[in-house]
Amino acid sequence: MQTVHRSQITAELNSRIKAAHNVFVLTGAGVSAESGVPTFRGGGNSAVWKGLPFDVISSAQMVQRDLPAVWEWFDYRRGVLSGLAPNAAHETVAKWQDRFPKFTLVTQNVDGLHTKSGSRDVVELHGNIWRTRCISCNARFEIPADGPRPNDCQNCGDHLRPDIVLFGEMLPTGTFELAAEKAAECELCFVVGTSALVYPAAGLPEIAKSAGAYVCEINAERTSLSDSCDAVLTGKAGELLPMLDQL
Ligand code: OAD
Repeated sequence: MQTVHRSQITAELNSRIKAAHNVFVLTGAGVSAESGVPTFRGGGNSAVWKGLPFDVISSAQMVQRDLPAVWEWFDYRRGVLSGLAPNAAHETVAKWQDRFPKFTLVTQNVDGLHTKSGSRDVVELHGNIWRTRCISCNARFEIPADGPRPNDCQNCGDHLRPDIVLFGEMLPTGTFELAAEKAAECELCFVVGTSALVYPAAGLPEIAKSAGAYVCEINAERTSLSDSCDAVLTGKAGELLPMLDQL
C-alpha cells in the first residue's frame, strides 16, 4: 500500500475541515482492516468460505436453505473478531463526534468496532454481528463475547439468525432514510475504506454531493467513486484520519 504523504491534503480540504460544523462519515470494511478484520473485496481472505463466495453464504436464500451453514460462517467471523481491537481510524472518528457541532457516523461494518472505540449512535446499515434476530417474531438478542450463542428465541422459541442484512434483503426500515437525511444535511462528507460497490450505502456520498457537500474519499486505492469526489486521499485510514485530525 502506498505511503501516506501529507501533500495529498490540499489547502481547500484543510480549510473545509477547520470550518466544518456538520460532518458525515461513511465507513466500510477498510476502516477495520488495520485492526486485522479481513475486507470483502480487494484481497481480503474472507471472500470465500468453504468454496462458497461470501455473497452466497451471506444471502437470504442461504438462511432458508441452510441456516446452520450461515451460522458456521458468522460464528467463524465472530471468532476472528473477538480478539481484535479498534485502530487509530476508529479512534479518530470517535473523537470527531465531540470535535464537530453536528456529526453523523454511518457504517456498513457489522463488527461493532466503532462502538467499541467510543462512537455513539452509530448508524449500522448492515446490522451487527454481535446480535441475533428471531426468524419469526424479529426479537433481537445480544451475543455475549465470552459466552455461548443462543440458538432459539427466548420470546417464541423459533430459530435465531444473524441480525445482519444479507444479500437479497432490504435494509432495516428507517435506517437508510436516516442516513440519507443526515448525508443531505452535511457540509463535509468523508467516505472511508469502502469499495462503494454495494447500494444503497454507496449512494450516500452521491446524496451528500448533490446537496452541496464537499466529499473526501479515504481509501487504500481508487474506487468507482473517486472521480466524483472533491478530494481523494490514498493510503491507510489509520494513518490518514489521525493526520486530518491534527489540522
Ligand atoms: P469492501 O471489502 O468491498 O472494500 C473495502 C475497501 O477498503 C476497499 O476499497 C479497499 O481498497 C479499502 N481498504 C483496505 N484496507 C484499507 C485501509 N487500511 N485503509 C483504507 N482503505 C482500505 O468493503 P465494503 O465496501 O465495506 O455487506 O463492502 C460493502 C459491503 O459488502 C459490506 O458491508 C458487506 C459486503 O457484502 C454486508 O455484510 C451486508
